[in-house]
Amino acid sequence: MNKLIVFNFKMAPASFTEVKEVFHIFKRFSQKVKPNKIIIVPPYVYLAEASNIFEKECSLGAQDVFWFNRNSATGEISPKMLKSLGVEYVIVGHSERRKYFNETDEIINSKIKACLSNDLTPILCIGEKNRKEGDSSLSFRIKKILFEQLNYALRGVILENSSDLIITYEPVWAISANQPKELEDPEEIQKTISLIRFWLARRFSEKIAKNMRILYGGSVNSQNIIPFLSLKEINGVLVGRVSTNKIELTKLLKKLIK
Ligand code: 13P
Repeated sequence: MNKLIVFNFKMAPASFTEVKEVFHIFKRFSQKVKPNKIIIVPPYVYLAEASNIFEKECSLGAQDVFWFNRNSATGEISPKMLKSLGVEYVIVGHSERRKYFNETDEIINSKIKACLSNDLTPILCIGEKNRKEGDSSLSFRIKKILFEQLNYALRGVILENSSDLIITYEPVWAISANQPKELEDPEEIQKTISLIRFWLARRFSEKIAKNMRILYGGSVNSQNIIPFLSLKEINGVLVGRVSTNKIELTKLLKKLIK
């Protein structure tokens, strides 16, 4: 399996001591899970430490970025700052940023463009907030939501290669689910990913649509990661809360060892 496993730490762990323990777990396993590739996405404040600890075994991502390199933006982090720490990827359009920080489609579009022009690969997150009675991944309502998110986020974007962008389908209702019924059905995910490829083929090219890496996110854990990764259409997963839970993380990484 040659898949991409992205670990979004979100706003965790709470201390430097704990993050070092988490990094140590990644250090132990990252070579063993090859040819799968690990990208760790810790909070900004831990990026410098990650950049010291990891050489080539894990790639580094950031959870956000500002859309300019100029210096009058208090509290923000520029693409150049991320580059200087060895960051290669940036999560853009995560539903938590759309919800808590009112990130608009326009902002998401600016961030995607800022990443591309600074040689950072955006990991664009899209997904519907909820499912209504009778909805499936192919319902008109769901298609409309996903296609609109793609249209806005990628407005005016020019892609030279399929590897310039990664898309994650992350249905908001499936994030940090506590009930099995809240989990998305792998078959449905495959259909949604095919739909995203259909959109990419029309907007960019057949080649980009075929080769772009499309991930799934939403309550991925040690029990379901292998079934998700076994699906041909899914090029990898975006893991949330398990990323900083030392016991669960170890279990999940062990599953990736052949
Ligand atoms: P969980 O894995 O906690 O559901 O989080 C998914 C997510 O939001 C990753 O970005």
